[in-house]
Amino acid sequence: MSEKNPREVLAQAKDVSKSYDGGRIVVLRDVSLSVRSGEVVALWGASGSGKSTLLHLLGGLDVPDRGELTVCGLDPRIEANRLELRRHRLGFIFQLHNLIPDLTVEENLRIPALAVGRGTKETAARVRELTAQVDLGHRLGHRIQDLSGGERQRTAICRALMNSPRLLLADEPTGSLDETTGSTVFGLLKQLAERERIAVVLATHERRFAEACHRIIRVRDGRLDEVAT
Ligand SMILES: Nc1ncnc2c1ncn2[C@@H]1O[C@H](COP(=O)(O)OP(=O)(O)OP(=O)(O)O)[C@@H](O)[C@H]1O
Ligand SMILES: [Mg+2]
Repeated sequence: MSEKNPREVLAQAKDVSKSYDGGRIVVLRDVSLSVRSGEVVALWGASGSGKSTLLHLLGGLDVPDRGELTVCGLDPRIEANRLELRRHRLGFIFQLHNLIPDLTVEENLRIPALAVGRGTKETAARVRELTAQVDLGHRLGHRIQDLSGGERQRTAICRALMNSPRLLLADEPTGSLDETTGSTVFGLLKQLAERERIAVVLATHERRFAEACHRIIRVRDGRLDEVAT
């Protein structure tokens, strides 16, 4: 656990390459990255630079052409590991939240708990705990389609954290929001991550969000470069 080993490596890529279209579109060239528990790391780069590609590889949503990946101690290229990662060790926040629109906030949040067979009482307590921290407790019975963009993204953050993952991967979690709401949601995400003591890797093209992270990794021309903060 992170308390016992506060500098544990939770996400590691070693010489990872990824291309599309039979090698015609080279997105990542032999990139390496290491993220330890407690770190909030920004993948910062222009549109099309490969931020989502790298997050998808780390999250087991896509596989690299070459190179090694270790996420929360497991190789996400192996199917059985992907299941374990998704259910227990990893949270993923998508740019467009991917919540189920005609279910309520509470119903959406119960889904990850159902997948791991958690009890009703425990689930309800976790829903209350998380939503209170992002000021969403008064919206539990509202359907996603009736929520504002910021409220949807806050629900997505809670959903990603429901099963207490060790690592959170967030793909432009504030990308669909206006500037003020984006800042609020980003602040809550960082606060919650710190409170839950998890590592976060988040993609952003906004410098101001990257600067609020512990580390900034610039994604450019298929390479990763650590930017001094
Ligand atoms: N499935 C795919 N097939 C072909 N090309 C793809 C595929 N997925 C991504 N690409 C290409 O790979 C490059 C990197 O895409 P990626 O989505 O990782 O960029 P990004 O940095 O996340 O951009 P954005 O900030 O716009 O989200 C882009 O040029 C994109 O068109
Ligand atoms: Mg992207």
